[in-house]
Amino acid sequence: MPRDVVYVNGSFVPRADARVSVEDRGFVFGDGVYEVIRAINGRLFASRFHNDRLRRSLEGIRITLAQGDTPERFADIGRQLLKENDLLSGEATVYMQVTRGATTRVHNFPPSPIPPTVYISVARFTPYADLARTGASAISHPDLRWGRCDLKTLNLLPNVLASQAAKERGAFEAMLIRDGVVTEGAKTNFFGVVNGSLRTHPCDTHILPGITRSVLRDLASDVGIALDETPIKAEEIPRLSELFLTGTTTDVMPVVKLDDRAVGDGKPGELTKRLQRVLAESLASGD
Ligand code: PDD
Repeated sequence: MPRDVVYVNGSFVPRADARVSVEDRGFVFGDGVYEVIRAINGRLFASRFHNDRLRRSLEGIRITLAQGDTPERFADIGRQLLKENDLLSGEATVYMQVTRGATTRVHNFPPSPIPPTVYISVARFTPYADLARTGASAISHPDLRWGRCDLKTLNLLPNVLASQAAKERGAFEAMLIRDGVVTEGAKTNFFGVVNGSLRTHPCDTHILPGITRSVLRDLASDVGIALDETPIKAEEIPRLSELFLTGTTTDVMPVVKLDDRAVGDGKPGELTKRLQRVLAESLASGD
């Protein structure tokens, strides 16, 4: 039996024995950041980009890691966990979370420095192969998040509520709309084709700079597909001929139905399928 081991604050422990304080600011305030990295046959995909984003998220909420801790070290711990948990072959995810640590509840930062809480775990992952072939459905939903969606923080309540609204309507994802513009999904970025041109929301404070989004943007450019980073307005939705989501656990996911209306001809589009193949090749080769 593979052991179910996680990493918490310097120790590898069985998941059932892992402990964090009830005073932890991640628990009390959602005061922390996280990353989710794809692991294929023990190799972390695009780990350099995830490390950079984690560093940026930490800086963004002003958490300083303990001496000797770095995102690169966390990635190595993730690799070690894959080994310990018998996940060196096939698909898995590595989850990393850093909070501002545990101390008596006070809204401002702890008055004297405390060590951040670091939690890293791995899980078996099964890609959504069937849905990726047939296409998924989505709903539109108000984007109720804060003004720094570019930081990957633990404050996911608006995402949780939007995801639940999607689930209750039998949909895979909620497309978030802020000020009349589609920003991203509750757990994905998105690309759409309007009047023949591939568009996505630009990287600003209203979206998470998705690693899959940026890998795909580069891959698209390599194969000569132009990308226009002009936001798609909600009123343009009926004109979408293709729509797809991107994410670490989503890859390229065609959306064929949005708010109960077919997108394009209601099947995964040609550009979507092409980019699906291009990303799959990149995941397989580890580029
Ligand atoms: N979600 N946008 C949001 C709001 C996300 O939460 C995610 C990822 C993405 C896609 O980013 P990336 O390509 O780097 O995975 C976009 C992760 C997987 C999660 O919260 O589980």
